[in-house]
Amino acid sequence: MPNALVIGNWKMWGSREQAKALVSSVAGLNQSGVEWGVCPPFPYLQIAIDQLGCDRVGAQTVSADQDVPHTGDVSAEMLADLGLRWVIVGHSERRADRCETDDVVRAQVERALSQGLVPIVCVGETLDQRNAGEAEAVVIAQLDAALRGLASNTDLVVAYEPVWAIGTGVVATPEQAQAMHAVVRQRVKDLGLSGDILLLYGGSVKPDNAEGLFALADVDGALVGGASIDAQAFLAIVEAAAAAKAE
Ligand code: PGA
Repeated sequence: MPNALVIGNWKMWGSREQAKALVSSVAGLNQSGVEWGVCPPFPYLQIAIDQLGCDRVGAQTVSADQDVPHTGDVSAEMLADLGLRWVIVGHSERRADRCETDDVVRAQVERALSQGLVPIVCVGETLDQRNAGEAEAVVIAQLDAALRGLASNTDLVVAYEPVWAIGTGVVATPEQAQAMHAVVRQRVKDLGLSGDILLLYGGSVKPDNAEGLFALADVDGALVGGASIDAQAFLAIVEAAAAAKAE
């Protein structure tokens, strides 16, 4: 079990050439105690696999369905067939823009697990919900929907990503991040899952704020968007994780 995990979420970024260049720039990265990986867009998954190996690659979403003719969808079986390790589910961009409800996210978790993929389950509140004092309740409801009833030894990752911090440059303060991560840690335990599940923070993680976040007791790593498509920034974030977790 690593002490920390850093995942790069490339979102809808790149070309084949850019993907090749980025994975070759990070390929040699090896920091003790820190696991890392990348989640490129579907067309570039094989490029990442070829250079990094399957164990460092995940997908950004997966179909909630199985054996149905759904144009454009990609099944958990296909991702497993590629040998992928992780799949992100419940990202707020997909919840908001692709109508992925809690029920859909739950189905995606189950589909991923059925194929041996490790789901990275994203939860997080909007700014309006935070301002209304609903942040914890929203996150708990999302966790409950996604995780209730899963076997205690289920291999998964949870990412707390406050929607107001994603792509905005406004990172959660250490106090905000730690407070919510403690809530998530407790809820995961209350749901009967292992307390060892890694909890990632996501939302405007950059080299200059990473170490402060990784120093927090309940932050085990990061889900990194914008900074993950800059090789130097991604390397610096992984190094910050290694430094913080070595202390
Ligand atoms: P960001 O994105 O680092 O660009 O804020 C994080 C995410 O959406 O996973």
